[in-house]
Amino acid sequence: MDSIALSKKEFNDLKNLVYSTSGINLHEGKIELLKSKIAKRMRLTKKSFNDYLKYLDSNEREVVEFIDTVTTNHSFFFRENKSIEYIINQFNRHPQKDTKEFKIWCAACSTGDEPYSIAVQLKDMGLSFSILATDISHTVLDIASRGVYRNDKLKKVPLPILHRFFQKGTGKYKGHIKIKKEISRNIEFKKFNLIMDTPPQINFDAVLCRNVMIYFDLKTSEKVINKLYKVLVPKGFFAIGNAESLMNLDHNYKSIRKIPSLYIK
Ligand SMILES: C[S@@+](CC[C@H](N)C(=O)[O-])C[C@H]1O[C@@H](n2cnc3c(N)ncnc32)[C@H](O)[C@@H]1O
Repeated sequence: MDSIALSKKEFNDLKNLVYSTSGINLHEGKIELLKSKIAKRMRLTKKSFNDYLKYLDSNEREVVEFIDTVTTNHSFFFRENKSIEYIINQFNRHPQKDTKEFKIWCAACSTGDEPYSIAVQLKDMGLSFSILATDISHTVLDIASRGVYRNDKLKKVPLPILHRFFQKGTGKYKGHIKIKKEISRNIEFKKFNLIMDTPPQINFDAVLCRNVMIYFDLKTSEKVINKLYKVLVPKGFFAIGNAESLMNLDHNYKSIRKIPSLYIK
C-alpha cells in the first residue's frame, strides 16, 4: 500500500495541525504527497490511520516528518552571498573588530550550508565569531552537525577558502568534503521552531531568516520577523531570502538600498 484515502476533513485536520505547529501552509496540491507519507509513517509506527492522526497530534517530532515532506531543505554553500558579504564587510569596519566576538543567528539553517558559509568567510577575514544555527527539523540538524557534504554543494566556494577550511574525503567519502574543526567549533546547532519557541536571551549582531518565510502566510511572517527584531543589537543586520520581501508586513526594520534582501535595526 503506497497511499491511503484521505477525506477532506482529515486533510483539513492535518493542515491545521501542521499550520499551528510550524506556520507552514499546506495546499491541496500536496495531498498525494501527504497520503503516501502518511501510509509510510503508519507502516513504520505500526498504527491504524485514526491512531496515527491522534499520535501526530501529541508529537511535534512526528509533525516535522510532514514538514520535511512538503517544504524543501534545499540549500548550498555561498547561496545568495551578497547580503552575507555586505554584513561581513561591515563587521570588518567595526572599531572594536579586533577584540569583539560577532554573534550571528541562522534561524532556518537547514543542512548547515548557510552557517558554514558565513563562518568560513568570517574566519578568512580574521574575525572572531559565534554562530547559533537552528532549524525545526532534526533530520537536517543531524546532517549539519556531521559537516560532510557532496562536492557539488560547494561549487560557489572560492578555491582559496575551499582549500583552507575543507578536508577532501577519501575512500567511501570520495566525492565529499568535511568542514574543518576550527570552523565547526564556533557553531552551535540546535532545534528551534520559529513559531512556537522563545528566542534565546542573546543580543545578535546579525540574524538570517532566509528562504523559510516563503512557506508562511503574512500574519505568521510578521510575527516571526518582529520576534527576531527583539534579539538584534541596535543597527544589527537582518537578512531574508532573495525571493522574499517584508512588503505588506508591519515592522521597524530599515532597508539597505544596495541589497534588497538585507535590513538593519
Ligand atoms: C529552504 S531551507 C532554507 C535554508 C537556508 N536558510 C538557505 O537559505 O539556504 C528552509 C528551512 O526552514 C525550515 N523550517 C520550516 N519551518 C520552520 C519553522 N517553523 N521553524 C524553524 N525552521 C523551519 C525547514 O526545516 C528548512 O530546513
